Amino acid sequence: MADLLSHTISMNRRAGVWKSLMLRSNSKMLAQEASTLGLWWLSIQEILLDRFILIFFLLVQKTFLVCFNYGVHSIYLLNECISRILEVLAEENQYDIVKFCKNEGLVLLADEVYQENIYADNKKFHSFKKIVRSLGYGEEDLPLVSYQSVSKGYYGECGKRGGYMEITGFSAPVREQIYKIASVNLCSNITGQILASLVMNPPKASDESYASYKAEKDGILASLARRAKALEIAFSKLEGITCNKAEGAMYLFPQICLPQKAIEAAKAANKAPDAFYALRLLESTGIVVVPGSGFGQVPGTWHFRCTILPQEEKIPAIISRFTVFHETFMAEYRD
Ligand SMILES: Cc1ncc(COP(=O)(O)O)c(C=O)c1O
Repeated sequence: MADLLSHTISMNRRAGVWKSLMLRSNSKMLAQEASTLGLWWLSIQEILLDRFILIFFLLVQKTFLVCFNYGVHSIYLLNECISRILEVLAEENQYDIVKFCKNEGLVLLADEVYQENIYADNKKFHSFKKIVRSLGYGEEDLPLVSYQSVSKGYYGECGKRGGYMEITGFSAPVREQIYKIASVNLCSNITGQILASLVMNPPKASDESYASYKAEKDGILASLARRAKALEIAFSKLEGITCNKAEGAMYLFPQICLPQKAIEAAKAANKAPDAFYALRLLESTGIVVVPGSGFGQVPGTWHFRCTILPQEEKIPAIISRFTVFHETFMAEYRD
């Protein structure tokens, strides 16, 4: 277990981290298919009823539950379709998850890297640690690991490679083993480490730099929210596309209803229909999106994932290029 945990914070920290953890532990990926419409609600009841999908590691190790708590529609049981979901995990749901882990004796791995990236006014990030403590569970009751990264939030320094995990509820000998094994891995480079410490210790209200820090932070988050909204509105206007609301994270995951003729053309080209669409988009516009088939989706549905990260002033041009491409594509393949 210590080995697996240390792996989660090692050099392999990247989008596929949970998948690589799964492969390394010889576990099984459990597809939890997303609905792109409507609120996400992980039904603990459902999980309990269906022992097969019961928490990825239970199948192999009866040890961990990974929960993506990043201000995003979000419990995926070691399913890498994580970032496509856009709704904030409901607080009540978090209580259920914690109680479930407690009852089943599971370690809760809380991926909280998107905690700053919440754009819905009525939604709030609640850390699992807060939820655990407010249920009265202390150090003895529930092992919990929370992950944070310098690549997300308002800092968004993907290239610097820094992050940390906070480990609570583990005995001292287990913590020692985790630390020892993590130390065997190469560490983050020095700038990554500096950034991680800055993320942990942002300027305080009494500091001289606080006003400019706060203005910059608020400005970045407000701009991300505007970009998400602009793209959401633009996608929703297009024929055959439905786009869920961008409540958080850095992505949109629109569903696209492709004409039969396009599906057949994709088949002839030996491509999944959404991959076919994404490649055509890339060729015609230079815009890169990730086809939903690369993540896993409800069978018979097609999606693409797109980030909200291009500079804000470039968003209108991206929208118009995308719109022209989509209209042309639909005109070519409309049934
Ligand atoms: C949910 C989630 N967790 C973890 C990561 C890994 O972040 P990084 O390796 O950049 O720190 C990502 C990256 O995209 C992510 O989306």
